[in-house]
Amino acid sequence: MSSRHKGVRRYLPYLRPYTRQVVTMCVAAMVAIAAATAIPQVIKAIIDGPVTHRQTADLPLYAGLVVALALMEAAGNFIRRNLSGTVSFNMETDLRNDFYAHLQSLQVAFHDNWQSGQLLSRAIGDINTVRRFVGFGLIFAIVFVVQFGAVVFMLFRLDLLLAAVTALMALPVAAISRHFFTKYAVIARRVQDQQGDVTTVIEEMATGVRIIKAFGRDALLFGRYRTEVAELRDTNFLSVDTRAQFWTLMTLLPNLILVLVVLLGGFATLNHQLSVGGLVAFITYLFMLIWPMDALGWILAMGDEAQTASIRLSEVFDSLRDVDDRPDADTLPAGRGEIRFENVSFTYPGGRAPVLAGVDLHVRAGETMALVGRTGSGKTTLAMLVPRLYDVTGGRVTIDGHDLRDVTLRSLRAQIGTAFEDPILFSASVHENLVMGRAISDDEELKQALEVAEAGFVWELPWGLETRVGEQGYTLSGGQRQRLALARAVLGHPRVLILDDPLSSVDVHTEAQIEAALRRVLQGATAILVAHRPSTLALADRVALLDGGHIVAVGTHSELMRNQPLYRQLLAQEAEAVERGAAS
Ligand SMILES: Nc1ncnc2c1ncn2[C@@H]1O[C@H](COP(=O)(O)OP(=O)(O)OP(=O)(O)O)[C@@H](O)[C@H]1O
Ligand SMILES: [Mg+2]
Repeated sequence: MSSRHKGVRRYLPYLRPYTRQVVTMCVAAMVAIAAATAIPQVIKAIIDGPVTHRQTADLPLYAGLVVALALMEAAGNFIRRNLSGTVSFNMETDLRNDFYAHLQSLQVAFHDNWQSGQLLSRAIGDINTVRRFVGFGLIFAIVFVVQFGAVVFMLFRLDLLLAAVTALMALPVAAISRHFFTKYAVIARRVQDQQGDVTTVIEEMATGVRIIKAFGRDALLFGRYRTEVAELRDTNFLSVDTRAQFWTLMTLLPNLILVLVVLLGGFATLNHQLSVGGLVAFITYLFMLIWPMDALGWILAMGDEAQTASIRLSEVFDSLRDVDDRPDADTLPAGRGEIRFENVSFTYPGGRAPVLAGVDLHVRAGETMALVGRTGSGKTTLAMLVPRLYDVTGGRVTIDGHDLRDVTLRSLRAQIGTAFEDPILFSASVHENLVMGRAISDDEELKQALEVAEAGFVWELPWGLETRVGEQGYTLSGGQRQRLALARAVLGHPRVLILDDPLSSVDVHTEAQIEAALRRVLQGATAILVAHRPSTLALADRVALLDGGHIVAVGTHSELMRNQPLYRQLLAQEAEAVERGAAS
């Protein structure tokens, strides 16, 4: 919780791997500042020495000195800029990798509650802002504080009164910039949030286009889009206007100070309190101050933006990884795949009523257990507990006697093949969608999986297995998507199979073919199979009947047919639905 308030400081440790570069960078910056601050001193020496006393012979020496100092400054700045680029982009990559890894580790519920547009704007925009500040802003801030200090010190050495006047004039500048930046921080945050909103609307429009058109919601959504874009524009106008006012003041004020210095300095020179060279040096230093003063504003703005960006990032980073590896989690050893639910209860995060209560179920090794129940009875929820898409809120689930929460997610999920009701395909090739980063030894396995799922259609796609599917790719039918998802689940012969209504969108003929092949696969695995149709139920050794989050009966299909009126009723409804489908 405390990290939530740390803001940008939380991301400073990302610089640690690059300590050497950062140190080199600081040294280079100090060298550049030292050289820059020395130059006006040489100029003063030239004016008060050779120029005043007409000793032209010494001029080349001084000129050479200035050139040497200028080269030193240039070299220092070059090294600093180059290194800060390397460091900041490396840091950005590290941060973005962590962000992505964290997103993946989060509970499914997190994604139910977050708009993807808001996530996108954080993954791209906010990380970029933090990177710019930590990689450039902070370094500049250090450089400017040092440069400011060095220059002010030199000013006081040259003339006390002039330096005091200059320092006094800097006070209103600081006050103005403080005022501006408090105001600006609010606007910056609003711009970032509104950008997220716009992204969300565009995304919804793109992904839900069919439903939107089918329900004639185009106008409604377009209206919403227009409002949000207009709001974003207005906030941006406000931001531009605020900045314009500020920068105008910031260019005007230093010039006013300059006028004062020239006037006071002129008198001081005439009264011989200050040499001509001293006055020139003073004015040169004054110009060296203007840039840090401008940049101070810019850095503060950057810091404020980075602060809001950090808070927005932390909102994601702090989202609990409810499902996470315990520190002492072990690898799940390859066993026989016996699954036990022991007095399991489950409530969705934020939900009030438990969706599952007092569930005891024993799926023997190698057995296929079907789950049957009305819609909303908790079948999908129960199935999701096995690959730990959610953790139980009471009781426990074990595989081969290991509590699922005691083993690493990676080892658990590596042994489970899953296909859920709504088959999600990613914008990637068929091949990538099937393999999903797993180590698949040979193409033969791939072929077998596609055969089991009757997904031979993939060979006829325009580019075969390399055809892009998903959001930006080739459009597959619901049945085709389901068959790919099934192939993905059985690929690599996992010990445990979780199949949630895997054939609901497949036609009866194809279903029969898949069932024949699926029977072989199920023989080598422990499986939980959510099913409605009698033909799919025939694949199961036993059936568990769910009602209202409770298991009301477990037995073979014929036992349940004999003893459970609810079971008979559900199957009768299903048969009717199939007939109606066949008749129409
Ligand atoms: N993400 C969620 N957050 C809160 N409640 C949920 C969530 N998903 C499902 N539920 C609720 O949990 C209950 C069980 O849902 P579940 O999806 O497990 O039922 P099901 O048996 O699979 O139904 P179906 O046959 O329609 O697929 C329902 O009351 C549902 O409203
Ligand atoms: Mg379901």
